[in-house]
Amino acid sequence: MPDTPQQDSPQQNIAPPDSRLALANRRIVLGVTGGIAAYKSAELIRRLKDLGADVRVVMTPAAQEFITPLTLQALSGNPVHTTLLDTEAEAAMGHIELARWGDLILVAPASADFLARMAHGHGNDLLTTLCLAARCPLAVAPAMNQAMWASRSNQDNIALLQARGIPLFGPAAGEQACGDVGPGRMLEPTELAHLTAGLFPRQLLTGTRITITAGPTREAIDPVRYISNHSSGKMGFALAEAARDAGAQVTLISGPVHLPTPDRVQRIDVVSAQDMYDASLGALKQTDIFIATAAVADFRVENSRNQKIKKQDNSGTIQDGRMTLTLVENPDIVAAVASHSPKPFTVGFAAETQDVENYARQKIARKGLDMIVANDVSRSDIGFNSDQNAVTVIWPDGQQAIDLASKAQIARDLVTLIATHYQQQHKNAR
Ligand SMILES: Cc1cc2nc3c(=O)[nH]c(=O)nc-3n(C[C@H](O)[C@H](O)[C@H](O)COP(=O)(O)O)c2cc1C
Repeated sequence: MPDTPQQDSPQQNIAPPDSRLALANRRIVLGVTGGIAAYKSAELIRRLKDLGADVRVVMTPAAQEFITPLTLQALSGNPVHTTLLDTEAEAAMGHIELARWGDLILVAPASADFLARMAHGHGNDLLTTLCLAARCPLAVAPAMNQAMWASRSNQDNIALLQARGIPLFGPAAGEQACGDVGPGRMLEPTELAHLTAGLFPRQLLTGTRITITAGPTREAIDPVRYISNHSSGKMGFALAEAARDAGAQVTLISGPVHLPTPDRVQRIDVVSAQDMYDASLGALKQTDIFIATAAVADFRVENSRNQKIKKQDNSGTIQDGRMTLTLVENPDIVAAVASHSPKPFTVGFAAETQDVENYARQKIARKGLDMIVANDVSRSDIGFNSDQNAVTVIWPDGQQAIDLASKAQIARDLVTLIATHYQQQHKNAR
């Protein structure tokens, strides 16, 4: 029937730098219905993922006659959803849960039959039921023979959907599989991916990749003992949420803390300063902004022991009721990041107990940072374990105080400030 299958076009780099990761953190439910253009949905998944989206595919029974769920599962990296009345499928991710999961339901290709069912509120398969249950926006990319497209019934259905504000992507006009020429071809995946990205407003940090370190590190003395500090990780986790909400793709490298992983944030758990150093340097290829909130131990125990040290140890560690541990310096994570080439916009934290601003300014110069967030951890109402904070943000030629507020609010203010300076630096570099 419609839509001539075309040879795969050569691999295109569809994401110009300013739309890179335009869909970061966005969850797209891609509905695929039964038409020849279903083969293009494979390419569409890749294009959506290139722009940063997480994609879950829902296929109608007819769609599965044209392309296999296995192909779309492999490309999306998620299980493909095909049935409504199936206890196992419902147990894995129920239709209401799936409807809630998406930030958008995009149906591409959308058959004439599907558009009719959608326009008239049917819920006789998984995809139509999802469309009914969804609170998120819907968009459709019709694909069909030109006569089907032009038919009175189809045009009435399209008018109904448009009256509901459902965006219509295409169709394009051109030669069709049946030999007809006219409107009905599904838009190309590249164009569909960009139209999809265009449905989401650009945010402050859309397309920016941020790596944040958080929490304390633990430096082993032996398998049961360690040296650590009071950092709770709350500030770093709050920053991860605020950066994500501003559209960034966030990697959170966390020492041992008792905090749940924020939704849509990639978390890497580490224990020691050396682990955190390795994870941080390893993340730099995918990092535009690096924020070091972790309270990293400056020193670790030299020759930490493989076996528990006994009170009556005879190796020289314990003598005359005194335990002697030699501490050696850990690598300086934020300094290493700031001296890396290419260098991400690097933000350090300075937790001090006295002369906070002065130490922070010295630190910014010594380590080559772009910005430093200084806080006074000697105050009991702010800092380490508190839910509140008050900070002074310092950069080479200026500073700004952020007054006492919840860590979530401080995080939002910090993200705005960091984003502004990062963008300024980029504009100047161009
Ligand atoms: C070879 C073939 C190609 C088809 N291509 C299309 C198409 O491009 N667009 C369309 O609306 N229907 C097409 N159909 C008809 C649909 O598959 C049919 O209406 C089906 O019920 C759609 O089901 P669904 O909307 O649940 O996926 C085609 C049918 C066949 C046999």
